[in-house]
Amino acid sequence: MRKKIVAGNWKMNTTPAEGVELLKGVAALKGEVCSCVNFIVCPPFTHLSEVVKVAKGTGIAVGAQNCAAEAKGAYTGEVSTQMIASLGVEYVILGHSERREYYAETSATLNKKMEQAYANNLTPIYCVGEKLEERESGKYFDVISAQIKEVVYNLSAEQFAKLVVAYEPVWAIGTGKTASAEQAQEIHAFIRKVLAEKFGAAADDTAILYGGSCKPGNAAEIFAKADVDGGLIGGAALVAKDFIAIGKGFAK
Ligand code: 13P
Repeated sequence: MRKKIVAGNWKMNTTPAEGVELLKGVAALKGEVCSCVNFIVCPPFTHLSEVVKVAKGTGIAVGAQNCAAEAKGAYTGEVSTQMIASLGVEYVILGHSERREYYAETSATLNKKMEQAYANNLTPIYCVGEKLEERESGKYFDVISAQIKEVVYNLSAEQFAKLVVAYEPVWAIGTGKTASAEQAQEIHAFIRKVLAEKFGAAADDTAILYGGSCKPGNAAEIFAKADVDGGLIGGAALVAKDFIAIGKGFAK
């Protein structure tokens, strides 16, 4: 049985106090959702310490949105996985398209970040996805395949067993344009096939999340697809009742 996951990527939103309130709101409503759903919230670094404390006992896990590529030292402004993990954080989002695009993250950087994540026992949520022009030119299978092969293929079988993957078509992020459930399924099945080429049957157990304008109104249809195991939610994760409503997209 694959894990069902609904993860919220808060991006650069909320103050720490607002973030704690948001988490409390999610925790208060969580009982309305099937206990089979694993909720994760990924606030900014500044919130992690407090959010982890408040999340204790709620069954909601906490993730970071990024981490340093190095273990420690003279890297002004960076935050190491040891620092993050020491707070009780369990996950880290890596390879988000916003980081690839605005902070020039390459596969080489991401390989180092993945190594750091595993070194401190953080579970990476590794994001892949094509840009609009790559979809329109039909190159998207190649783009996604390369994003997987250049990074995920470097993991050991043991590391791979922990990995969570997120498919986030860049053209659907924050645009209100969602991939159709069929488009999501097509790519999720493709991702699983590429993973299986390297890791065999273990790929059947990998949670692959959909992200990109996922909302209460479209989550159920997308989550119903065979290879979609949940969502990585941006905007709708900032409203507790919407985030919870997305969780309800999994039939009990
Ligand atoms: P939106 O849900 O706001 O489109 O963002 C998706 C996303 O980028 C999650 O990481």
